[in-house]
Amino acid sequence: MSDHKKKDDHDYETTGHSWDGIEEYNKPLPKWWLMVFYATIVWGIGYTIAYPAWPGVRSATAGLLGWSTRGNVEQALQDHEAELGPINEQLASVELTAIADDPELNTYAQNAGAAVFRTWCAQCHGSGAAGARGYPNLLDDSWLWGGTMEDIHYTVSHGIRNEDDPDARFSQMPSFGRDDLLSGEEIDQVVNFVMTLSGQTPPAPDLVEAGAEVFDINCSSCHGEDGTGDRWQGAPNLTDAIWLYGGDYDTLHETVYNARFGVMPPMGGADLSEAEIRAVATYVHGLGGGEAPEE
Ligand code: HEC
Ligand code: HEC
Repeated sequence: MSDHKKKDDHDYETTGHSWDGIEEYNKPLPKWWLMVFYATIVWGIGYTIAYPAWPGVRSATAGLLGWSTRGNVEQALQDHEAELGPINEQLASVELTAIADDPELNTYAQNAGAAVFRTWCAQCHGSGAAGARGYPNLLDDSWLWGGTMEDIHYTVSHGIRNEDDPDARFSQMPSFGRDDLLSGEEIDQVVNFVMTLSGQTPPAPDLVEAGAEVFDINCSSCHGEDGTGDRWQGAPNLTDAIWLYGGDYDTLHETVYNARFGVMPPMGGADLSEAEIRAVATYVHGLGGGEAPEE
């Protein structure tokens, strides 16, 4: 056992206070501890003067140093832009077809384009660009409007069938049923015929011949005599078994009866810079279906 002194030995200094014989030792806090404690108070007050701190009704005190997290982000963005400025300028000004020939520029455009795609395109075309019903797959080489760099660049800049950009790609398939352009019988016939174009067996093969005639008169001007489509009008190829909306009887019937009107917003102007549009066009072009420029 240790040799503690008993309390009533009065070896320790007391404050002199005594209540019912209970006395109070005088044991002040260590000096070093007190100094640190006071220092933190001074530092804390200083900090709240220098940096944003005290809450007000609408906002907090701004602090003498003028520091803010927003300012920090702005600075970081500015630094980032200054760093990428030269290569973005180059990307925005070279010939579209020359991007692929410059390995450094091409790699930059591919990476930047993938990021643009995730933010601006994935919600419609899917994160892997495989599309969905009404939203074309951008991985394959089946193009509605065209798959060269020029074509893709134009589509992304101006969009399709939107009202925001007067230069948007535009075309409109008539609503053959709703607007009484064809009778129910004729629609039945032409749908059976269209199914044969992609090698499907239609539910009523005996209507196919009459359907071919209906097609020739009403559809071939846009979809081509052989049904392979027309990129000038964004009229899909009906022979390749790649469907934007669907190739079964019911879906085809719906398409011919009511028509379709796929809309894509323009990305040029306020949304994306020219460098960003070129980057995402390079990315999409490189996904697999990209086409060489027309000679
Ligand atoms: C709001 C939905 C939407 C967004 C966002 C969108 N698209 Fe589209 N995109 C469409 C639709 C719908 C079509 C098909 C229109 C049609 O039927 O012709 C289309 C068509 C295209 C085509 C033409 C494909 C072809 O076969 O010719 C390209 C290329 C394209 N989009 C690229 C992009 C890129 C790149 C972005 C992002 C910068 C993007 N799209 C953002 C809806 C969208
Ligand atoms: C004025 C031009 C025009 C005419 C005429 C026309 N189409 Fe179309 N058709 C289009 C366009 C443009 C689209 C694409 C619409 C879209 O993407 O929103 C389309 C889409 C389609 C589709 C959807 C294909 C898919 O991949 O899902 C089918 C099927 C179709 N047309 C069949 C017909 C048939 C059958 C006729 C004749 C009865 C016809 N079209 C007449 C322009 C036309």
